[in-house]
Amino acid sequence: MTRRILVTSALPYANGALHIGHMLEYIQTDIWVRYQRLAGNQCQWVWADDAHGTPIMLKAQAEGIEPEALIARIKTEHERDIAGFLLSPDNFHTTHSEENRELANLIYQRNLDAGNIVKRTIKQLYDSERQMFLPDRFVKGICPNCGAPDQYGDNCENCSATYDATELADPISQVSGTTPELRDSEQYFFALGKFDAMLREWTASGTLQEEVANKLREWLDNGLKDWDISRNAPYFGFEIPDAPGKYFYVWLDAPIAYIASHKNLASRTGEDWEQSWKQGSDVELYHFIGKDIVNFHGLFWPAMLEGAGFRKPTGIFCHGFLTVDNLKMSKSRGTSVTIETWLKYLEPEYLRYYYASKLTDSVVDLNMNFDDFLTRVNADLVGKVVNIASRCAGFISKRFDGRLAAIYPEEMIKDYKNFTSAQHIIMQYYEQREYGKAMREIMLLAEHANTYINDAEPWVKIKEPQEAESVQQICTVGLNYFRIIVTYLSPVLPALANKTERFLDTKLTLESLEQPLHDHAINRFKPMMTRVEASQIDKILQETVSGAPGADAGAGAGASAAAAAGKVQTSNVIPEPLKPEIDIDDFNKVDLRVALITDAHAVEGADKLVQLTLDIGLETRTVFAGIKAAYTPADLVGRRTVMVANLKPRKMRFGVSSGMVLAAGPGGSDLFILTPDDGATLGSRVK
Ligand code: MSP
Ligand code: ZN
Repeated sequence: MTRRILVTSALPYANGALHIGHMLEYIQTDIWVRYQRLAGNQCQWVWADDAHGTPIMLKAQAEGIEPEALIARIKTEHERDIAGFLLSPDNFHTTHSEENRELANLIYQRNLDAGNIVKRTIKQLYDSERQMFLPDRFVKGICPNCGAPDQYGDNCENCSATYDATELADPISQVSGTTPELRDSEQYFFALGKFDAMLREWTASGTLQEEVANKLREWLDNGLKDWDISRNAPYFGFEIPDAPGKYFYVWLDAPIAYIASHKNLASRTGEDWEQSWKQGSDVELYHFIGKDIVNFHGLFWPAMLEGAGFRKPTGIFCHGFLTVDNLKMSKSRGTSVTIETWLKYLEPEYLRYYYASKLTDSVVDLNMNFDDFLTRVNADLVGKVVNIASRCAGFISKRFDGRLAAIYPEEMIKDYKNFTSAQHIIMQYYEQREYGKAMREIMLLAEHANTYINDAEPWVKIKEPQEAESVQQICTVGLNYFRIIVTYLSPVLPALANKTERFLDTKLTLESLEQPLHDHAINRFKPMMTRVEASQIDKILQETVSGAPGADAGAGAGASAAAAAGKVQTSNVIPEPLKPEIDIDDFNKVDLRVALITDAHAVEGADKLVQLTLDIGLETRTVFAGIKAAYTPADLVGRRTVMVANLKPRKMRFGVSSGMVLAAGPGGSDLFILTPDDGATLGSRVK
């Protein structure tokens, strides 16, 4: 039976560029959607930009434009990135649309009528200079729990306490820098607690991931609080009906845009969208989301739907966060790579495959390492998959007029069947979002195909005229394997699948795989995928760090040198992460002294070390420094440098090192010791 499935991804905020972190979710969604279509199910993906809220309003103000102009521009950029990464949503709409306004009003009104909305007056921080109530994240002050200064209005980064912004001591508005005042403000609350029983049942229904169900149960056990769904003007969003100056909080209308996007799509296709959202609908509904927004999708959203008489989601597919080298993505470290930057230097399919090879059905974080990325995609996609076609195609077009063998070799039929029956386990893995396992199964097939060609040695046989027919058969078998493998990979690599369809002059569908291709003309083979070069990755990281294309010449030269050496020298590009902050007292514990280098020589048996004798006035020290690649020891004698004089002596293989000299640079020959003016007095403290 054909399943009918509706899929959503979380809506990206319309105030910034899409990056490779977002793309983890969107690629995960796209693969699932394309897999469903390959499996013959009817699957629609409805999606949108999330265009409301204070940050968007303020960004537009800062740019001196209307929020409508900002969100229109960002939507165009997001759509460009979506197309660039070969994502296949059926619709990409916006939360700032008429459909969404109507649906938000409807869902609100029905909940109001059902008594699920309550009005209450609360005290809130008000910025009288900017004449606006301040959202939690727009005020900073002293933590009411531990006294740490400079903490946001929702929780403390020092002690993790959560509190109300009104509890901060010495609050400062982040919008104007002035001290906000407390004002009474009437707000609308959604009575979440009324849905406790429903949410417990829904959470326990077995359709959620274990980790997600546990988290939701924890929240339920802690007691559900009413949820503030209104914000005061000025706000960019929808004004609440019959409540002038009050707006729906961005998170109220954001998920409703899943429905609005579907309705908007239906205005073009003519389908009955309402039927999908009615209680008891047999259409399956799944939301792909990140672990940071589970509460919105697992508590508020099903409750709002239930309260308004709509159906609830069939499931929530939650994923972990993308880390780069096991750290949170960061602009300054150059790991917050935007999609725009990526697409300037690399095709999208490499990242699509890399993510697929690492994705599971769990919410654990997924780590990106660029060396690993390069090795993996080159080995698998170029080395294993495309290689099958490039080894067989030439013979077919040059020697057999582009025709596959008239008859598929009888003795290879059994193997062909093994290839086609692998689809059951592979499709099951896709269904379960175990893409990594699916990729491993597919790569086993690719290895098998390569072994077959290696053993059959068509390039040897082609020299013997009587073996011609056998070569045609070998290549026919190889190209059939290629066809099966690319069909299985098509949810991940849609462009490769398209090129393969053109090359083999056939549609890649599961049904058509039942019969091997033979007695069939194919087209000339064109290279389908090239190796990823380290220099391409370098350029991406470079541009991300510098924030500008074509970073400065010096750094660029370094990167291409690294590329020439065939190695990704990310250390050139990504500065080391910063250490945790220290205060001035910590710093003062470090006794830095001006020292005269009175002797310097290489240490025998150590490639990197120079033994330095340092005079700091009070005494002389022996220090082993790893600077041999950067300095000729003799040149150092007579120069001044700065040393850490109170570092605990360390026993090394060659003697005791009593202190450390300060140096900066990436390392190796690119290292510079500090050389203060010759006038600096020996032993004087550096502050
Ligand atoms: N606008 C809200 C979602 C509203 S849905 C009704 C939002 N936007 S977001 O732009 O911050 O994030 C969109 C999605 O991208 C979220 O599911 C989020 O978890 C995901 N990701 C954002 N950064 C990510 C990583 N670094 N790694 C993985 N996913 C990431 O939240
Ligand atoms: Zn604190």
